[in-house]
Parts: sequence; C-alpha cells; structure tokens
Amino acid sequence: MSDTTTTTTRPARGGCRVCGGAVEQFLDLGPQPLSDAFRVPGEPAPEFFFHMDVGACADCSMVQLLEEVPREQMFHQEYPYRSSLSSTMREHFAGNAQHFLDTELTGPDPFMVEIGSNDGVLLETVAEAGVRHLGVDPSGDAAEVARGRGIDVQVSFFEEEVGRGIRERHGPADVIFSANTYSHIAYVPSILRGVNELLTERGIFVFEDPYLGDILEKTSYDQISDEHFYLFSATSVSEMARLHGLELVDVERIAVHGGEVRYTVARAGARTPTPAVAALIAEERECGMHELATLRRFADRVRTSAAELRALLTELREQGKTVVAYGATAKSATVTNFAGIGPDLVDHVVDTTPEKQGRLTPGVHIPVRSPEGFGTDTADYALLFAWNFADEIMAKEQEFHDAGGRWILWTPHVHVV
Ligand code: SAH
Ligand code: TYD
Ligand code: ZN
Repeated sequence: MSDTTTTTTRPARGGCRVCGGAVEQFLDLGPQPLSDAFRVPGEPAPEFFFHMDVGACADCSMVQLLEEVPREQMFHQEYPYRSSLSSTMREHFAGNAQHFLDTELTGPDPFMVEIGSNDGVLLETVAEAGVRHLGVDPSGDAAEVARGRGIDVQVSFFEEEVGRGIRERHGPADVIFSANTYSHIAYVPSILRGVNELLTERGIFVFEDPYLGDILEKTSYDQISDEHFYLFSATSVSEMARLHGLELVDVERIAVHGGEVRYTVARAGARTPTPAVAALIAEERECGMHELATLRRFADRVRTSAAELRALLTELREQGKTVVAYGATAKSATVTNFAGIGPDLVDHVVDTTPEKQGRLTPGVHIPVRSPEGFGTDTADYALLFAWNFADEIMAKEQEFHDAGGRWILWTPHVHVV
C-alpha cells in the first residue's frame, strides 16, 4: 500500500469549531482514509489519508475531530451512500415525515427544507402529500435518484448564503430537517446562520445524529470518521444553539444507527423547552460525560476493543476458518484501519450498494461483493460491520446461521453469535 499512499501531517489546531475554546485531545485513531472512498482495483492515484485525533472543548463540551477533511473530497457527484437501501431507515423516515405533516406542516402553504436529502428517502412522503419542499445535497447522483421520485433538490452544500438564497426564492421554512448530516459538517456557525435566515419565527430545525452517550456506552468508535466530525450531546448542542440566538427545545433518544438523539432547535424564546432537555443535560452531567477522565477511559476501551477483534480474527485464520464481512459501511473504515484488518483476515465484504461492489474498501482494500450467494457459500464467520442494522440483516440472512455460519459482533464488546 505504501507506494500509493499519502499521509497528511497533523496540522496545528485553531480551537473549537463551535466556540473557539481550547480543544483537548483524548483519542488518537491514527491515519485514516476517506471512509466512503471505495477504490477501483489497480487505481494508480495515491490514496488520501488524514490523521484522526479526537478531542473535547473545555468551554462548550463539543467532542470533535482535530483535523477537518475538505468537504468536496467527501461529498461530491459520485458519493456512494444511499439511504433507501435499508428497510429500517425507509420506515423510520416515512414515520418522521408523516409526523411533520401532521404537526408542523398544517398551515396554509407550508414549506420544508432538508439538509442532506440524499436519495429522497424522507422527502418522498412530503412530496407525495403535495407539500412544498426542497432537499439540499451536494451528492449529484443521489439527488438524481431523489428527482426521479418527484422531489425538488438543489445540488449544493447548505451554508449561510444558501439558506438566504432559499428564503429569497421560496420564502421561510416551517421545518428544516437533517439526519446524519449536520454532525458531518465542521462549519456549523455558517449552517446555523443559514438556519436563522431561513426559519419562520416559530419554525424548527430538527436533526438526528449519533449520540455521544451511546458511543461511550457501546464503545462504538466506528461512529468517529472523516464524515462524523462532531459527536453531539444535549449539553454541547444546547450551548451551540445558544451561541447563535437559538434554543434547544426538545430531545429524544432514538434507536436507529446504533443510538442517536433527535434534537429540536427553535429561535430563543419562541417555544417552551420540554422537560426532556434539562433531564438529559442533567444525566450527562451526573455521569461526567464530557470530563476528560471519562473520555480517556473510553479511549482505553477503544484500544482494547480493536486489539481483541484483531486477536479473534487472527486466531480464526490460524484455525483455517473463512471470515467475510457484512456491510461495507463508511464507519467500518475506522475499525479496519485502526485495528489493522485487511484481506489477510477478512476475505471480502458483501454490500447491497451497486456503487460499492467490485471496489476495494478504503485504506485496507478488502474487496466488496454483492451479497448474492451469501449464506450458501463457504464462509464460517461473518463480521457484521453494519451492526446498526443487526436485526434487519440477521433476519434476512437466517439461512447463513441455520447452515452453521456465525456472526462476529465487535460492539458493545467482541463476541460471536
Ligand atoms: N439524510 C440521509 C443521508 C445521510 S448521508 C440519511 O440520514 O440517511 C449524508 C448526506 O449529507 C450526503 O448525501 C451528503 O452529500 C450530504 N451533505 C454533506 N454535507 C452537506 C451540506 N453542507 N449540505 C447539505 N448536504 C450535505
Ligand atoms: P450505514 O450504516 O447506513 O452507514 P455508513 O456507511 O455511513 O456507516 O451503511 C450500511 C451499509 O450496509 C450500506 O453500504 C448498505 C449496506 N447494507 C447491506 O449490504 N445490506 C443490508 O441489508 C443493509 C440494511 C445495509
Ligand atoms: Zn467549544
């Protein structure tokens, strides 16, 4: 790999991207590739790596990466992720959209904007209801899929000027929604100024992202990647909103993607916060969630987890067992590159995304194949990278287990089922 590898140096850090405060590093996940950059075999161009250090802000508590990858390198025309490939997520977002239609989008001519609309998995329900909407997403190919479903999409990065432009053309938005996107964006001050430009007086900005509390509880360090710049909590989101004249008015823990929180933000004073906000902030304070000692204990567990997984795979190889992986998730790049898991330990990884098949996973270069034939082929073990869809995938692949195949899960601890 060395002849095609460029590793960036670790740059000096300018301070917290939210408030400018001092950020203390607590975890070093080493050199990491772009987690969604699946390579064509034989590709001569050097592979981009950055150094993934994680730290916490002493002032606003926000947990964040120390190095930012330029956004155009992560999100572009051919960005391969497609939200609609999971039935769990299709149902989740259809329910979300219906909730907004029933509660917030009931006025005379409501308008909803989604930041990171991808292939239209959520806005489809809004479009079908005949409600004005706009998706904003820089991933052109995914936006084409959404347009094919009758959804209006602007192919761009949402930021301050884009928010202003949308308001000028379409008027203010009653709801701005964003799932698994806002935490990807390092330049949050610009996003929040854009939200401020775009929201109606009583409008809400609702976003769902992996929850720091779940990540610490499950040692799910794959939630940290180039695309997951921030690990949000109620404490840090509340402070981020306050710094921009906004207020966190509701929080709800949700089970999708291994544990997230749905945050609702409104203009300061426009809505009464629910008791859930103060309750979750108090819970975070009581467990010392943002204290460096807590975060350093998490870092110890991450190193142990990676070593245990590597040891198990090495032992299975020595026993002559065949191990494959399931789900070429972006998240798994963090695990494979940190733990040193390549094609010598995992023969290939299966994934339903046509854009990933026939390619190699970032950094460690495990071949990606279609799941066709999985379960009836010769694998003894399947390492479940898409553990956040364990129920959906294990139900679909019951045949694999019935034939004696075993699943390897590495979170909350390394185990075989
Ligand atoms: N909301 C979907 C997609 C998440 S993937 C879901 O939850 O499944 C993240 C998406 O955010 C990608 O499609 C990416 O292109 C998009 N994205 C990244 N930065 C963005 C920005 N600044 N504005 C709008 N979309 C962005
Ligand atoms: P996901 O966990 O949603 O996100 P990320 O890539 O950001 O970590 O990715 C799930 C991956 O697993 C995606 O590439 C599609 C794949 N997948 C399957 O191959 N089969 C399935 O049944 C499901 C649900 C997902
Ligand atoms: Zn800060």
